[in-house]
Amino acid sequence: MTSLALDSAAAVAEEATLAALLRCSIREVAGPRGQVWHAGPYVLLRVAGALLRARAHGGLALRFQGSPEWLEDGCWQPLPADLLTRLVEAELGGGNEEFTAQVRASREAVAELLRARREAVPPADPWLASEQALVFGHPFHPSPKARGGPGKDTAGGAGEAGEALARGLGDGGSGGGPDWLAYAPEAHASFPLRLLAVRDDVLAEAGRTAPLDALGAAPPGYSLLPAHPWQLDLLAAELAAPLADGRLVDLGYGSRRAIPTSSVRTVYEPVTDRCLKFSLDVRITNCVRKNSWYELAGAVELTSRLEPVFRRLSEEFPGTRWLPEPGYRSADLGTRLLEGLGVIIRMSPWSVCRPGVTPVLSGALAAPGAPEDAAVPALAGAVAADPVRWWRAYVERVALPVLEAYLTHGVVLEPHLQNVLVGVDSTGMPVEAVFRDLEGTKLVAGRHDLRGLPRRVAEALTYDAAGGWNRVLYCLMVNHLPEVAATLCGTGPARELWAAAGEVLAGYAACRGWPRELSDLLAGAPLPAKANLSVRWTRSADRMAGYVPVANPLAVLS
Ligand SMILES: Nc1ncnc2c1ncn2[C@@H]1O[C@H](COP(=O)(O)OP(=O)(O)OP(=O)(O)O)[C@@H](O)[C@H]1O
Ligand SMILES: [Mg+2]
Repeated sequence: MTSLALDSAAAVAEEATLAALLRCSIREVAGPRGQVWHAGPYVLLRVAGALLRARAHGGLALRFQGSPEWLEDGCWQPLPADLLTRLVEAELGGGNEEFTAQVRASREAVAELLRARREAVPPADPWLASEQALVFGHPFHPSPKARGGPGKDTAGGAGEAGEALARGLGDGGSGGGPDWLAYAPEAHASFPLRLLAVRDDVLAEAGRTAPLDALGAAPPGYSLLPAHPWQLDLLAAELAAPLADGRLVDLGYGSRRAIPTSSVRTVYEPVTDRCLKFSLDVRITNCVRKNSWYELAGAVELTSRLEPVFRRLSEEFPGTRWLPEPGYRSADLGTRLLEGLGVIIRMSPWSVCRPGVTPVLSGALAAPGAPEDAAVPALAGAVAADPVRWWRAYVERVALPVLEAYLTHGVVLEPHLQNVLVGVDSTGMPVEAVFRDLEGTKLVAGRHDLRGLPRRVAEALTYDAAGGWNRVLYCLMVNHLPEVAATLCGTGPARELWAAAGEVLAGYAACRGWPRELSDLLAGAPLPAKANLSVRWTRSADRMAGYVPVANPLAVLS
């Protein structure tokens, strides 16, 4: 690889890191202090006394053109990400010694991913290619691609294993890159799973787990348990005893390669044609990615409760699909291993889409280069031919079932960009929407009978009504639709798109007798935006995340 190539990866990583931090600064740091102004093509903000500016477009999505700048001695100078990090720290009063390292680790990771992608071949499967397209990750997170240790918050402990990994992130470059690259969807990784056998007296499972048995041959008296090889490394110390005394047996590697999806820890496994959601004791964005025991049980419980709900949703809104999580398996070897080895079985998107419909991760539609780079040529063609028609179909497929799930069924879906797939037909038009990830899917308290469930399982399955609606608004109206709209309208105005979205939503609201939630939304009430920088800054658990109000794109219509 030439040094020029290395340099350009570093430059693109710097640009992406700066852009993400600037978006967070506008939304969470300068915005709430009244220090953001829009003037012509620029957004200006003041952070720790410094005046910054960037040419911005894309509405809530805040896309930047050219280099963001800061005013130094009366002259506009390019703004480096390191300087913005220092300014944010100063504005917030200092005291978080991890923050700078996390932002830098994310920038290094992006550079590594860009280098690795030059030599890697994307999956031929367009769905998997879309899962592996999120090179820059969450656009409103200060360290979207850091894959580090658990840090010092209360969000769950990965212990020293995670810290060791955080060190691993820095030692990349030689010998094919750091270890985490071997598991990185953005580097088009694929790898065989490790197969364990669990002795039946310590088997923990619920629901429909039979597909896992097809992965290999467990010895008599044992059941097969696939494991993410990265997680096995992280759990090595805890696994030594049960492997030595025969409660677990290591059967080596599986026969076919699994393909990691956008969440990193969930993979597509081709022998079973299932997605497998593993625990991974690594912090990705705000969470150490552990399947808690109550989430393992909760996924199976929710799957049976949601079956009738989605049946009705798809009758009312044809094209509504979901990915059931009908079973989990683990080993009953104490909480650490029960959770650390727990794997949730999830249906695959192809298996729930109608023949002829191609699932594409919504997040891939928001990635730079979309929609042309989305591995479905017809999609770019359909968008180019009539963006408003395409968008209207998209909003109908994605938004209406989410609103109906909440209002009629008391179910809070989590439709952020990474949890939704749009199914496009052969002409590239949206005809289906696939909802996934039951960890973030909740039942509205008081609207479901949860008696009979263990208390912790019931708690983790529930939101109060206001919290649930907040979550719906954030995921759908802040995280998701504005990003897709920004892709569709490029640097142009989005007014026509939001007018169309307003019509679709108003049509639905009229059918439902204008519930208060929808009349507020359509009247342009400010929207709640999740405060990811603040979560990292205060080292809080993700579930404690606060929200800041942002402008509602539907407000321009009223
Ligand atoms: N716009 C976005 N909103 C939310 N997450 C995003 C976005 N873009 C990228 N991501 C990434 O997607 C992942 C979302 O995490 P989430 O908790 O939904 O997934 P998970 O529960 O780990 O796995 P799965 O989605 O397979 O169930 C994180 O890695 C996050 O950084
Ligand atoms: Mg998810």
